[in-house]
Amino acid sequence: MGSIPTLGTDTNNMFLYLLLFVLALLVVVWLIVLGAMILAVYGSIAIRVPFVPVAQYVVEALKKEEPLKAGDVFYDLGSGDGRAVLAMARAFPEAHTVGVEKGPLPYLISRLKLRFAKTKNAAFFYKDFSKISLADATHVYMYLYPDVVQKLLPKLESELKPGATVIVCDFPFKTRTPKRTVPVVRGKRTYTLYFYGF
Ligand SMILES: C[S@@+](CC[C@H](N)C(=O)[O-])C[C@H]1O[C@@H](n2cnc3c(N)ncnc32)[C@H](O)[C@@H]1O
Repeated sequence: MGSIPTLGTDTNNMFLYLLLFVLALLVVVWLIVLGAMILAVYGSIAIRVPFVPVAQYVVEALKKEEPLKAGDVFYDLGSGDGRAVLAMARAFPEAHTVGVEKGPLPYLISRLKLRFAKTKNAAFFYKDFSKISLADATHVYMYLYPDVVQKLLPKLESELKPGATVIVCDFPFKTRTPKRTVPVVRGKRTYTLYFYGF
């Protein structure tokens, strides 16, 4: 009688560990997807304006049309995935940029992007923009629904310091005339940036 061979047992064990590892990985991925779905559904139910990021070429136009100076403070009200805030921060390192976002999923994405962006002059806040002070803002940008934009006007008028600029994408104030209007065209889609002096 020879000794009991162990090679087969080791191979079986390895296969079992591999299977367990793959299963654990699948469970983790599934939990992440489920979590993201719950956050997205919660966001779209709790917040009236959905997370629809503006096209990157509009952000490029924003940088070109409204360059920031040293000491300027740029706010994006409803900053989504943070693209405008991060692009302005990178382009104008002497200025500060702030994103305010109430949707958990876009907020988390913006925080993740900030972690890898290595920019020190950008910040994101998980807040309702109607509850923050805009007293230090020199620039306020927003891409929101028309009635939400209009409702924000009294807040902007009472809190912004003289000389501040408000940039509204696509849905202008009904009761204020912009100092200039810039169409941003790409193919069939045209965005319009409205610039207001306060
Ligand atoms: C159309 S997206 C625009 C995103 C980003 N500003 C851009 O230009 O790509 C509007 C964003 O505003 C956020 N939002 C809506 N109401 C808000 C509120 N009261 N406070 C903070 N964020 C809000 C939504 O969650 C959404 O991400």
